[in-house]
Amino acid sequence: MMKGYNLIAAFTILSLASTFVTASDPSPLQDFCVAIDDANSAVLVNGKLCKNPSLATADDFSYSGLNVPGNTSNQLGGHVNIITADLLPGLNTLGVSLVRIDLAPNGGLNPPHYHPRGSEVLLVLEGTIYAGFVTSNPDHRLFTKILKPGDLFVFPFSLIHFQLNIGKTPAVAIAALTSQNPGINTVANAIFGANWPIYPEVLTTAFHLDKQFVEDLQAQEWVDPT
Ligand SMILES: *[C@@H]1O[C@H](CO)[C@@H](O)[C@H](O)[C@H]1NC(C)=O
Repeated sequence: MMKGYNLIAAFTILSLASTFVTASDPSPLQDFCVAIDDANSAVLVNGKLCKNPSLATADDFSYSGLNVPGNTSNQLGGHVNIITADLLPGLNTLGVSLVRIDLAPNGGLNPPHYHPRGSEVLLVLEGTIYAGFVTSNPDHRLFTKILKPGDLFVFPFSLIHFQLNIGKTPAVAIAALTSQNPGINTVANAIFGANWPIYPEVLTTAFHLDKQFVEDLQAQEWVDPT
């Protein structure tokens, strides 16, 4: 009998403990949200107002056009079409979004990038993709896989990852992300295409490059794959 009570007490304490463990600030839905006192010049934390539920229609939860290939005629040979709550209003507050990734044959690239607000699971529909991610400091372990149609690969929250088409045909993938606005930070673009340019000495030391090389990189056009 006593044992039974102990068990119940243990469960109660455990469930309370897990409540405390999961209690945290909600994930941000944009890069930052600077506090302000003046309500008139404020935006909502998630950037969106909610429509009156009685006025919602099926169209609010629907989006068409992901059957259309993205244009990969660019310096990367890649195109990413991300459907966030901006394009699909019914996603607001639900913590999910979707992308279509197109990669040109023989080296089309979705360059190293990370999603500041989301994990990702990728499904290859067509082609052959070399995909990978790198863990954070201090290990920087590389996890890679060659993916064929029907293969999935997971990119954990906020880790740098990439996809390269290593086949002779176009590659297509769909990925789901765990935020209505996961954000995309393309590493090379953020570093070498920063606006204003980062003071070169920061980059010469950080990347073990000479100043001229850094300035040449900074002078290039850094185009996002979206
Ligand atoms: C794809 O983009 C290139 C470069 O911007 C452009 O010249 C071309 O017309 C585009 N193709 C299509 C089918 O839109």
